[in-house]
Amino acid sequence: MTDPAPAPETGTIARQHERLFETVRSIEEMLPIVAQRNEAKALQHALRSLLDYLSDQLHQHFAAEEQDDYFPRIAAREPRLARKVAELVRDHVELRALAAGLAEQGRKAHRSSDWAQISLQFWQLRERLAWHEREENEVAFQVHNVDLGAASDG
Ligand SMILES: [Fe+2]
Ligand SMILES: [Fe+2]
Repeated sequence: MTDPAPAPETGTIARQHERLFETVRSIEEMLPIVAQRNEAKALQHALRSLLDYLSDQLHQHFAAEEQDDYFPRIAAREPRLARKVAELVRDHVELRALAAGLAEQGRKAHRSSDWAQISLQFWQLRERLAWHEREENEVAFQVHNVDLGAASDG
């Protein structure tokens, strides 16, 4: 019997998650330094690039998840998860806007107080993103379990 909707390919998405959180961790390490010292110019420059990079990474990652062979396929395969998938897509819109906003603020930031403000917002983005990815993993886990169940039913 042929399967009309094979399981979504999760390898690429999982790798993107790892790289995303590597960028998040790098930003996390640098932000407290520039938020305390005005003179950390080279670090400010690196941070601006990293905030831009994070925004681009998120953009590409979310686009990959929204493609036919991932979220839409999960929703088609498991209709009970369709609402959850729609919530995740709405999250993408907000997370993309937050990340783009931070990158924009980073371009204008020069004083340590600017960076302190960015730190607060970055912390919110980080928490929301971590929550979002946990929810996503839960969805992927449920689809995976259905696959395993189907395999053992056969
Ligand atoms: Fe996502
Ligand atoms: Fe994701």
